[in-house]
Amino acid sequence: MCGIVGYIGKKPVYDILINGLKKLEYRGYDSTGVMIYNQKVLIKKSKGKVTDLESLFTNSEEKKGSVGIGHTRWATHGPPNTVNSHPHSSSSGEITIVHNGIIENYDSIKKILIKKGYKFQSDTDSEVLANLIEDVKKTKKVKLGKAVHYALKQVVGAYAVVIFDSSNPNEIVGARLGSPLAIGVGDSEYYFGSDATPFLEFTKRCIYLNDNEMFVVSLKKGLTLREIKMDSIVDPYIQELKQSIEEVEKGGYDHFMLKEIFEQPQSIIDTFRGRLISPKDPISISSIEKHFEVFKNANRIIFISCGTSWHSSLLAEYYFEELLRIPVEVEYASEFRYRNPIINKGDIVIPVSQSGETADTLAAIKLAKERGAFLYGICNVVGSSIARETHTGIYTHAGSEIGVASTKAFSCQISLLLLMALKLGEKLGTIEKTRYKRILAELNNLPKSIRKVLSKNNIIEDISKKFINSSNFLYLGRGYNFPIALEGALKLKEISYIHAEGYPAAEMKHGPIALIDEKMPVVVIATKKGSYHKVLSNVMEIKARGAEIIAIVSKNDTEIIDIADHVIEIPNCDELIAPILANIPLQLLSYHIANKKGCNVDQPRNLAKSVTVE
Ligand code: M6R
Repeated sequence: MCGIVGYIGKKPVYDILINGLKKLEYRGYDSTGVMIYNQKVLIKKSKGKVTDLESLFTNSEEKKGSVGIGHTRWATHGPPNTVNSHPHSSSSGEITIVHNGIIENYDSIKKILIKKGYKFQSDTDSEVLANLIEDVKKTKKVKLGKAVHYALKQVVGAYAVVIFDSSNPNEIVGARLGSPLAIGVGDSEYYFGSDATPFLEFTKRCIYLNDNEMFVVSLKKGLTLREIKMDSIVDPYIQELKQSIEEVEKGGYDHFMLKEIFEQPQSIIDTFRGRLISPKDPISISSIEKHFEVFKNANRIIFISCGTSWHSSLLAEYYFEELLRIPVEVEYASEFRYRNPIINKGDIVIPVSQSGETADTLAAIKLAKERGAFLYGICNVVGSSIARETHTGIYTHAGSEIGVASTKAFSCQISLLLLMALKLGEKLGTIEKTRYKRILAELNNLPKSIRKVLSKNNIIEDISKKFINSSNFLYLGRGYNFPIALEGALKLKEISYIHAEGYPAAEMKHGPIALIDEKMPVVVIATKKGSYHKVLSNVMEIKARGAEIIAIVSKNDTEIIDIADHVIEIPNCDELIAPILANIPLQLLSYHIANKKGCNVDQPRNLAKSVTVE
């Protein structure tokens, strides 16, 4: 949930830390801070964003130094003020730490340390860890690496930590359990980051730490990686990253979110590359081919996920049950992990995640694994924890998604889930051949169809102007479009702070209709086929109660077009493809409303891109 950076080498560290933190702000932006070592430790921290921190450096002397660590915070323990900002120091000031995660037993450790005379400035669990490391180092008379090792054995919780000891400034120590941490390996220099983006411009050689691993990096002795529980040396696996720096920059757009919305045709091409070759060829998904027997014998498929990825999973339920005829359940990972779920032999659990680091999803995976499920992971971030913790799986290849509100990752998830369902349905013989071929042809055409929807951007921007002062919104959809109603509402609420609810259109009469009046705009997804005429009746009911209606309809609609106040057309398509296209105007509508309200679209308040705490 927080972002960590660090560097040790010969380059001036200030720019590396500041630019790195800016790239990680999507992980949290309540407060930020850095420690720079130049003969002595200098710590500067600030409530707010990295630009606030930069303004504290008025003297160029303060920027000097070639070792440093930094942090951008999403507050857990203690309010987002300067004192609670990272880095945190031990009482003596010798140990400095940046931490992402939660130390659950921090309170009991703190009490013991207070009795021993340690003083605390902040409310954070991280300061407790800094003092615990110092205490272990002094009482056991060991070096920083050993002290961190012993200290981490005492803590319960989750962490990615990077630690500096001013008594040995040529060394940096770090560790991970449950929160991500990457090391960039340069020429006699090392970079550290919650992900690789802070160091991508300097090195593509990257080590992703596994849970329970720690490292000691010394300018004299190089890097040592160790498994914490076994206390054994691990051979580092250095990956060559393929990501480019352009991918993580705005490229002329005002916001990452808008850039990512417009990148969707290309993201879909990347997601389908090597998997959907031509309308005639079969779909190639090696992880399904390899484990086809598991799918063939599956009694049940359970999707586990959170937020937008949960909406993808819900749509997958519709796709998989329709095309595979295998029972599907969809679970919030946060509920699944705590409710003693029944997992039977022959159950396949499919976690879906953009980041591959969501704490609840990871905990649910662990539980499902313990209970014998076969785990097939779907995630976007290559090398992420979910990719490593599952038996097999598939990457969405949407590219880096920086905007906190998920857009292109969602489109790639649902397109890939449809592709998987088609592949499995064809192999199982549960999908009729002509239908299979028709949908395949439409999927091949999907990037083009998305471009057509994106060309409506100006119309959508115009519509958005009318709603910047609305306080509530209702989103309605039916069948395959119901998960899109939920996703549209989530997108609007998270970036514009307008209250929005998604509902199955027919459920409206069971309660929400009471809310409808002229002050309640209603977005209706009413594409052709499926339940079109039933949704049309719902539209009439809403109109009769005076609400302003924004309808997403299929091209050449002749009925809703006369009733709705605003109409956005998507190309005519199969009802399984319609939700993928119908979602795009809703992304743009949310974006324009939020942007016109002056909201921080890329970094909405209280949110973070990757939720690595419970
Ligand atoms: O990385 P994940 O897909 O596992 O993240 C799940 C949710 O935290 C995420 O989708 C969240 O709801 C987004 N802010 C939605 O835009």
